[in-house]
Amino acid sequence: MNKQTEEVKPLAPESKIQPSSRRDFLKTSTMAGIAAATFGAAPRVVGAVSAPTALYKKAGPIAISSRNGQGTVLKAIEMIQSGADALDAVVAGVNLVEEDPEDTSVGYGGLPNANGVVQLDSAVMHGPTCRAGSVACIEGIKYPSKVAKLVLERTDHVNLMGKGAQEFAAMHGFPIENLLTEKARKEWVRWKENMSTMDEYLPPHKPGDKGIGALSEPIHRHWGTIHCSAIDLAGNISCVTTTSGLAFKIPGRVGDSPIIGAGLYCDNEVGAAGSTGRGEANLENLASFLIVERMRAGDSPEQACLVACQRIADHTKLARLQDSMGRPDFNVQFYALNMKGEVGGAEIRGGNGTFAVATPEGGRLVKLAYLYKNNG
Ligand code: GLY
Repeated sequence: MNKQTEEVKPLAPESKIQPSSRRDFLKTSTMAGIAAATFGAAPRVVGAVSAPTALYKKAGPIAISSRNGQGTVLKAIEMIQSGADALDAVVAGVNLVEEDPEDTSVGYGGLPNANGVVQLDSAVMHGPTCRAGSVACIEGIKYPSKVAKLVLERTDHVNLMGKGAQEFAAMHGFPIENLLTEKARKEWVRWKENMSTMDEYLPPHKPGDKGIGALSEPIHRHWGTIHCSAIDLAGNISCVTTTSGLAFKIPGRVGDSPIIGAGLYCDNEVGAAGSTGRGEANLENLASFLIVERMRAGDSPEQACLVACQRIADHTKLARLQDSMGRPDFNVQFYALNMKGEVGGAEIRGGNGTFAVATPEGGRLVKLAYLYKNNG
């Protein structure tokens, strides 16, 4: 374990997080030495940067996201600067990734299930109303986060899944589309042809080749996903997580992303948290809820994320999920934002991981803390 593991503290006594200014956020980031790189053009500033702090109930506008959300956080901040509610802003932000055919872990272009069908999961949570909405295993709908938001806004339910979720989306005018891109289809065929040496699917090979099949790179068992949390001009927080889930999963598999408390959670008095990575580990630990409760008790976002990583490591008892040193051989990342505007993230195995943060001054990549160095 590295130093950061040792720094995980026992549960602090219940204490309220005190409001602070935007300046404090910038100071926190600098003190932690986490401002790794800036990205994108600074979003258009519409007065809020120079607005008096008294305009904010709590922190100024800020958005965080997993690393694949560099455009997402800039979009969210741009909308927030124009007066949007944080929920509208984070959903619009992740829509950019959901519609991007190049991101094979989210929305259109996501890697399909074992049958070659793209099944998507997404959830949203709205701080001011404490409401949530989610969809699981939805097929043919490019923007599952928008449907999750409609579940929140236009039903008395929290989760819709499968065909019911698709029918609900169609009722609200969403087109049913083929989400399987050629790139994703080819990856699926490659996986199918290499998953076993004992079946009838064969990858391209020569007559003299031995050991055909079972050559898939572990990378193809990947858990992509995007999470985004933001605080708006009114000082309200909301969040979203959206994914195509585990590549080549068993049809019907639901990951952590659409499960409130696992793939995301927020509380307007405390902050928000979300995750990417191996959803099964998160589902068994409800880590986003844990992170928010740790922040409520006084942990910084980074400390709280490390506690969640440690919890998963402590609960990983099966040898098939452990490396030679008994540590998890998989990864989960957590991202957190508190109402002071402080940010932090951590992953189980890391060293080079980052996440995206944007304020009205622009975007930056911030380092993820970690429990175990990736090669250690
Ligand atoms: N964390 C995304 C998934 O496991 O589906």
